[in-house]
Amino acid sequence: MPDTPRKLRSTEWFGSADKNGFMYRSWMKNQGIPDHEFDGRPIIGICNTWSELTPCNAHFRKIAEHVKRGVSEAGGFPVEFPVFSNGESNLRPTAMLTRNLASMDVEEAIRGNPIDAVVLLTGCDKTTPALLMGAASCDVPAIVVTGGPMLNGKLEGRDIGSGTAVWQLHESLKAGTINLHQFLSAEGGMSRSAGTCNTMGTASTMACMAEALGTSLPHNAAIPAVDSRRYVLAQMSGMRAVEMAREGLTLSKILTRQAFENAIRVNAAIGGSTNAVIHLKAIAGRIGVPLSLEDWTTIGRDTPTLVDLMPSGRFLMEEFYYAGGLPAVLRRLGEHGLLPHPDALTVNGHSLWHNVKDAPSHNDEVIRPLSKPLMADGGIRVLRGNLSPNGAVLKPSAATPALLRHRGRAVVFENLEHYKERIVDESLDVDANSVLVLKRCGPRGYPGMAEVGNMGLPPKLLRQGITDMVRISDARMSGTAYGTVVLHVAPEAAAGGPLAVVRDGDWIELDCDAGRLHLDISDAELADRLASLKADEAAAQPPGRRSGYERLYVDHVMQADEGCDFDFLVGCRGSAVPRHSH
Ligand code: FES
Ligand code: MG
Repeated sequence: MPDTPRKLRSTEWFGSADKNGFMYRSWMKNQGIPDHEFDGRPIIGICNTWSELTPCNAHFRKIAEHVKRGVSEAGGFPVEFPVFSNGESNLRPTAMLTRNLASMDVEEAIRGNPIDAVVLLTGCDKTTPALLMGAASCDVPAIVVTGGPMLNGKLEGRDIGSGTAVWQLHESLKAGTINLHQFLSAEGGMSRSAGTCNTMGTASTMACMAEALGTSLPHNAAIPAVDSRRYVLAQMSGMRAVEMAREGLTLSKILTRQAFENAIRVNAAIGGSTNAVIHLKAIAGRIGVPLSLEDWTTIGRDTPTLVDLMPSGRFLMEEFYYAGGLPAVLRRLGEHGLLPHPDALTVNGHSLWHNVKDAPSHNDEVIRPLSKPLMADGGIRVLRGNLSPNGAVLKPSAATPALLRHRGRAVVFENLEHYKERIVDESLDVDANSVLVLKRCGPRGYPGMAEVGNMGLPPKLLRQGITDMVRISDARMSGTAYGTVVLHVAPEAAAGGPLAVVRDGDWIELDCDAGRLHLDISDAELADRLASLKADEAAAQPPGRRSGYERLYVDHVMQADEGCDFDFLVGCRGSAVPRHSH
């Protein structure tokens, strides 16, 4: 047995020949564990978000088996445990509502159990931030293993992307260019293997963020879910977790301010999801790293988008892996001085640059050279003004360039139900220059900040061939979605933000380059409208009783610019061993 130079947490459970040690060991032995495995070897938790209700993570039992192999091979003791699984496709009203719940589950499970290091099995969108947030609050050694993306979707011989195809086909259906049979026949072909969305949606983005942050082994983000190399990576990660436990390589040594700066730059280069803005802020908050919305402008600005993946571009995650995956992107950025902190430490004990400096690129169409970017200035724009005093975001690579500077009249929807009822009204006073405004879909208003910000266009305009319009809301949008969509307006309408007082016919100005979002009414008029808001707001609460958790959520969730964490969860609480249970 190799030396274990530092005292492991698990010693506090299994290391004593007294009543407590007896109890902790005895019950574990009912799983068939022999005496010699309680010899002080590191206990490696495998935090599993497996669930058949989270289709993207439904193959995780097999991944966990390969992690266990690695743990055992390196002389560790693997223990798999379940945590709340946030499945994006099934969970209503939105998986975002329970991201914080899952993070609490993870934090308490790690701290309360004999765990020396943890392997975080992440996949579907919210599972990655939830597990990183929980682990960060404990600051234990942790390594991320992602489930990997699905194989390319197929429809009539061509590739279709998860999510992105749904938005496109639905617009075609409403425009009358395809029929219902064609629409529904795409279902099976879009999701034809285990894994997460194969577009550069939020799951792929967060997998890239985990890799860019240094919390996973190289190539973790892109290896397809069903590729045998995904299982090799799981095994190697299990092995590495044992070493990390022995080395005491905790998350706070990896999740530094430098790591987040690298990740923000990488998000621009991959054309990543707007949801990363919220999740990175929440993770940073847990580990105690200051991060602001402005960092997305100052660090992300002038970074070219190199990865030509849907929804911004043409390809899917399979091609991304075959083209070299994230290491190839990191190398390109680094060679052009665009990786802010190449020396940042990663989970394998090497620097980010050491890991990628020789990474090969195999396809310049998919991972473009800097001389031929998908977009010269990618990244995420932060917009401020009297309509979003605490910020809003827009992803230019997924928008229509001509709409990035726009002045139009508001067509207002007070909530999602109002939108659904009104958007199909053929007599709605709306044209291609109008600005669609959706309220009360933010963290408190929905609640949970649903992915409804990319609201579909009015059918009558779709039939005229209109494919994009400026849309503004306090909601999020799926990372697989696209359009000139202003999201995350803060404060949200349900928290009394100015969005709540926009009226039909108001003029709104968007200037993406200048970072400006302006409601063209006088300051006095705005103040008047805000003063008379209170009664309206109460009337707009969603009907029905709130669950206990929902109550907690609405009372404690912070706004989008603060990462939508609970106010009482921010910060690192460490992994000190709690009192004995008996
Ligand atoms: Fe799970 Fe997209 S729905 S990754
Ligand atoms: Mg999503």
